[in-house]
Amino acid sequence: MSQGKIGLGYLKLNFKMKSPLEDIKNYFDRRFSREEPALTAIRSSSDQAGLPPIHIPIYLGKLLYILAKMQNAKKILEIGTLAGYSTAWLAQSLPSHGKLITLEINPTYAALAQDHLQQAHLAHLVEIRVGHAVDLLAQLAHQQEGPFDLVFIDADKENHALYLDWSLNLTQTGSVILIDNLLPKGDSVGQPAHQEAEAVYSFNDYLAQHPQLEVSVIPVITRDIQRMDGLGLIYVK
Ligand code: DHB
Ligand code: MG
Repeated sequence: MSQGKIGLGYLKLNFKMKSPLEDIKNYFDRRFSREEPALTAIRSSSDQAGLPPIHIPIYLGKLLYILAKMQNAKKILEIGTLAGYSTAWLAQSLPSHGKLITLEINPTYAALAQDHLQQAHLAHLVEIRVGHAVDLLAQLAHQQEGPFDLVFIDADKENHALYLDWSLNLTQTGSVILIDNLLPKGDSVGQPAHQEAEAVYSFNDYLAQHPQLEVSVIPVITRDIQRMDGLGLIYVK
């Protein structure tokens, strides 16, 4: 629900406006937002632990899972673990000999994610590395731990470009890179209202003309139905 305000002299009325996106999201959710109980448990536990409610929507988790399967991904890299919700979706797509490495800066989040993956019986497929993503990415490249078939970038948005550049060191022709949150918050699209938004808009321009990449975007209705966002879908040439 979005908030509305009408000023009528001294009388101010607050009311809830129904977002036109709400019916659409509910309609799709009722049909396509299905997940394993273990994944529902991760979302509840994450909320209970007081983590920011910023994990991907259910249907986007399913989309990551399907894309990873279509890609026949055996090695996946994730930047930004949070409580391991998207990690679990991606891990579910892997064959038994597959491997997912996920990078998380916050040790508390990483520990919680580890518990969640254990409870979901996915921990054997996943390695959580704790630290600054740039350091961990440099280490991955130095130790030649690539190439990854699929990379999912969902960390601090100011560093999208840095993470993309490192991802290109860790992928090969045919790899797929997915990037969450290509549309920043703000009233007017394309007009940055804050520093993070400015970084994302500049990044999108960089992405759009990148000679090594084929890029498209999947428009996404956010989990809280407040606005639209975008998932970048990138093919490495
Ligand atoms: C928010 C949403 C995200 O998908 C994310 O990765 C970080 C923050 C948000 O809505 O604030
Ligand atoms: Mg995100």
